[in-house]
Amino acid sequence: MSCAQAGIVQQSGQHVPLFQEREIEAVAQTPVRQRCLGARQDRVAHLDVGRGGRCDVHLHAVAREVLRGAQDAGHEVVVYEINDMYVRGCQGCRTCKENNVDCIVADDLQPYWAELHSAGALVVSAPNYASQVCGPMITYMNRHYCLLDKDWNVRIHPGIKLVGVFSQGRPDPEAYLPVYNWYLGDFQNRDMELVDLIVHTRALSYAPGSPLMERAYQLGRSL
Ligand SMILES: Cc1cc2nc3c(=O)[nH]c(=O)nc-3n(C[C@H](O)[C@H](O)[C@H](O)COP(=O)(O)O)c2cc1C
Repeated sequence: MSCAQAGIVQQSGQHVPLFQEREIEAVAQTPVRQRCLGARQDRVAHLDVGRGGRCDVHLHAVAREVLRGAQDAGHEVVVYEINDMYVRGCQGCRTCKENNVDCIVADDLQPYWAELHSAGALVVSAPNYASQVCGPMITYMNRHYCLLDKDWNVRIHPGIKLVGVFSQGRPDPEAYLPVYNWYLGDFQNRDMELVDLIVHTRALSYAPGSPLMERAYQLGRSL
């Protein structure tokens, strides 16, 4: 099975039903950071293709560690498996621009938009395919076109904390940094604040307690 994911984290002690009126008011009035959405493309360990029956397992492990840290910090995590979801590309219909609304494309991202509007953080993760962020995660990224209105103003609350986790075969972690920064830049253009960018390469250990995994966990804790 392959999967791509997005998730939401909500701080403990402030957990109220998502659509309660008072929460909507709070979201509107303050730059709340109660939720953390994550979006990632991973493949899980029991995938029976790839090297030795594993494919992208390292990426999955690192991104999961960020989310585990966020959970341990008291956040609620909601994960969207983008690669397993029905996610269409942006249709360029401009309905979002003309009507100042979230994307109307009727697919599995529909619940995501409401969650994103009350999110405190977004964790995106993807493997590098052909020197780029993998296709499904670019399709997902393109859909955030709806977060800019017809005058190119951002129509989501500012300050959503942004984390990028990327995985690649090449051992040099800086080899594709321009690509990853380009990808994250699209979210930063929606007033999200980049907290950190983690690059996993095959040269790095993802064993529990390794420096990379500890960094990922502490990053999640800090959200
Ligand atoms: C179709 C495909 C294209 C890939 N292209 C690249 C590439 O251009 N550069 C690179 O460093 N790694 C590339 N990889 C390796 C993946 O990035 C790597 O397998 C993935 O990040 C998961 O890491 P892992 O195999 O260590 O778990 C590619 C893998 C696939 C399946």
